[in-house]
Amino acid sequence: MIDYTQTIPNNVDLASDKTLQRALEKWQPAFLNWWNDAGPADSARLEVYLRTAISVDKDGWANFSYVRMPEYRWGIFVVPCDESRAVHFGDHIGEPVWQEIPGEYRSTLRRIIVTQGDTEPASVEQQRLLGMTAPSLYDLRNLFQVNVEEGRHLWAMVYLLHRYFGRDGREEAEALLERRSGAENNPRILTAFNEETRHWLAFFMFAFFTDRDGKFQLASLAESSFDPLARTCRFMLTEEAHHLFVGESGVARIVQRTCEAMREHQVTDTAQVRALGVIDLETIQKFLNFHYAVTLDLYGSEVSSNAATYFTTGLKGRFEEGKLTDDHKLANDLYPVQEVEKERIVTRSVPALTALNARLRDDYIREIQAGLDRWNRIPAQFDMDFRFTIPHVGFLRKIGKFAGHHISPAGEVLTEPVWSSRRYEWIPSPEDHAFIESLMQRVIEPGKFAGWIAPPVRGIKGKPIDFEYVRFN
Ligand SMILES: [Fe+2]
Ligand SMILES: [Fe+2]
Repeated sequence: MIDYTQTIPNNVDLASDKTLQRALEKWQPAFLNWWNDAGPADSARLEVYLRTAISVDKDGWANFSYVRMPEYRWGIFVVPCDESRAVHFGDHIGEPVWQEIPGEYRSTLRRIIVTQGDTEPASVEQQRLLGMTAPSLYDLRNLFQVNVEEGRHLWAMVYLLHRYFGRDGREEAEALLERRSGAENNPRILTAFNEETRHWLAFFMFAFFTDRDGKFQLASLAESSFDPLARTCRFMLTEEAHHLFVGESGVARIVQRTCEAMREHQVTDTAQVRALGVIDLETIQKFLNFHYAVTLDLYGSEVSSNAATYFTTGLKGRFEEGKLTDDHKLANDLYPVQEVEKERIVTRSVPALTALNARLRDDYIREIQAGLDRWNRIPAQFDMDFRFTIPHVGFLRKIGKFAGHHISPAGEVLTEPVWSSRRYEWIPSPEDHAFIESLMQRVIEPGKFAGWIAPPVRGIKGKPIDFEYVRFN
């Protein structure tokens, strides 16, 4: 169970380590300053129907109640220690997992934890203004739920930094509150987390695509031989599932609304569809293309000696490593990776150890495809031919084998002039953004929804759809 009598709610027995407790209690007001400065705009007085973790058990870990967000009980929650857990991949297979950090892996682990930690506040910053244009109270509540949980994920990483990395860790924890998404002089570490989230279509796409990268990174860190990191990430994954739901169902509801309007008015032409105040499916596809490509870059270079080292040393496993049935060492295995050769895309076999980024990305792509298949049932139900597709992995990439090349969604290698003349067929143009932004207006009457999005199938935690998920008072 989680101890809520403490200043910092936790299930890591913080009270038994006074130095650590004091250090974190010093970081706590700095976190709140960051939240007030960079978190959801104009939200401090709202009462939001939020879930708060009360235990780390699989069932019934969450309590739902009205909370003012600055009073949210952010804390430190990890799944219980499994005494029998052993290293299950890499060179140290079979040895007990580590409860303290082996000195030789210290700086690498710190880098991994800081990079993960940096994404958490970054997404809150990116979404800071979205509350002003929420399409309903239901959606506003979901946005805020995601935001407070990303804040808690920051706490999760900061706990590890304070507890296991001494002074360097404390300095990194402070720096996590100082960087800002999109800032010129002190930006967030990863590019995707410095992009603007200008409207709700971008937000839902971000939650579907980019939060899912978070899931895959956390899942591979949940395999780590550094047991406190593994246990921390395990619990974060339970929270992440809701973020993915928000993204997938958000896009599905937009598609639903568009299809309804198209059928009702018997129109298919983009301009006519837009004139109905809904988002045409072709534009949704363009946003899908953009968010997909930007997120693929988060996996890093397809071929990476760092990725190989993380695996052989036992720091970071593969997705669901524990369920795979090979030797968990990969010393002699190969893996196919695509690249451009003489204006053509070719597939090459490379040592599997060096292709672990590509492999994690491919596992991710399988889940993305399954999500698209679910979205595609909607136009199918309306007897429409339109289907969403994922672009080629080389499309719009800035990192890895395809960086510096222009690849069409269909996988053709294009020259720069062809790319420049055609790119807005595939990614949102300034006009597309402006159109979406023109639709964004705040709807706060319980049970009412903006015209470009369908209501959800059901409410949160058994509440009706017209429940007052946010109280303005
Ligand atoms: Fe997160
Ligand atoms: Fe998330």
